[in-house]
Amino acid sequence: MDSSIKEEVPVHEEFILCCGVETQVLKCGPWTNLFNEQRANRPKLLIFIITGNPGFCSFYVPFAKTLYSLTNRRFPIWVISHAGHALAPKDKKILTTSDDSNAQEIKDIYGLQGQVEHKLAFLRTHVPKEMKLVVIGHSIGCYISLEILKLAPELPIIRSFLLFPTIERLSETPNGRIATPLLCWLRYALYVFGYLLLKPWPEKIRSLITRIGLQMMNVQYEFSVLNILEPFCIANAVYLGGQEMMKVVERDNETIRAHLSKLTFYYGTMDAWCPTKYYEDIKKDFPEGDIRLCEKKLPHGFIIHFYGEMAGMIADWLKDDLSKIEALTHGSVTDS
Ligand SMILES: *[C@@H]1O[C@H](CO)[C@@H](O)[C@H](O)[C@H]1NC(C)=O
Repeated sequence: MDSSIKEEVPVHEEFILCCGVETQVLKCGPWTNLFNEQRANRPKLLIFIITGNPGFCSFYVPFAKTLYSLTNRRFPIWVISHAGHALAPKDKKILTTSDDSNAQEIKDIYGLQGQVEHKLAFLRTHVPKEMKLVVIGHSIGCYISLEILKLAPELPIIRSFLLFPTIERLSETPNGRIATPLLCWLRYALYVFGYLLLKPWPEKIRSLITRIGLQMMNVQYEFSVLNILEPFCIANAVYLGGQEMMKVVERDNETIRAHLSKLTFYYGTMDAWCPTKYYEDIKKDFPEGDIRLCEKKLPHGFIIHFYGEMAGMIADWLKDDLSKIEALTHGSVTDS
């Protein structure tokens, strides 16, 4: 990947109030408010990324930028944080929309179903109805993407990519077996640890430690990453993780069947959150589906070091869909 190309890609960081909860949204491309654009000038499609847990969108920026470049900068790409996984820095303004004040309070918004409702509320208030959507889910973001397809059939989702999907039998996976007791039973111990040990540290120190840690791991980031050591965000990520272990049990065959033609599954070969057995099982149940097994040994957390490979594949799979949409766009330009 040519890094000089990626550097020029504009990315805006926004904190918005969604369902009354501070939410970080990173927007790749020149469009920040799609409603401000004249209808004819609006992009025809939005690529929407739903992260894994924890939902630190900053980590998805190199992936989003690369995909943006590879799709010829024609379509905005947005990444949304999970509710409660990001707090705005003190000096950052939190944007509100009048629609949000009408949004009904979501029960248990930091839980798994609450996070689904949170994404739905965002799409309904921040994306014009006629805009087509490509939804890219990663890890638990895949479960959320399927729920969105099920609960909001009115949304014009033309394609959904489910990357390293954790959509079934999560607590039986190698990592799930370790995480389940840790997240469910030791949750309170983890809270106490977070609040007692991390809370007293001044923000500057936490930020310094986070930065050093990320540098040592050679992780790129550009936007607020302070939340990694923010007890409130850790507690919410742990809470969501615990719910995932309990609630992601049976694969939702009905939703998968109903939307199979839009779905592309990408399973890893060394994914401790999703063994290749699950790939074989789903492949057997849906032989006609676009269900792929990774041939590049990408890790579950591809976004850190393998975002280029993943973005390249997605751009490729999207080519036909996007050229159809571009044909429509050019059509309307010559008409006017
Ligand atoms: C979906 O199919 C699998 C395998 O056939 C089955 O084990 C699972 O229980 C099904 N899920 C639901 C919700 O029925």
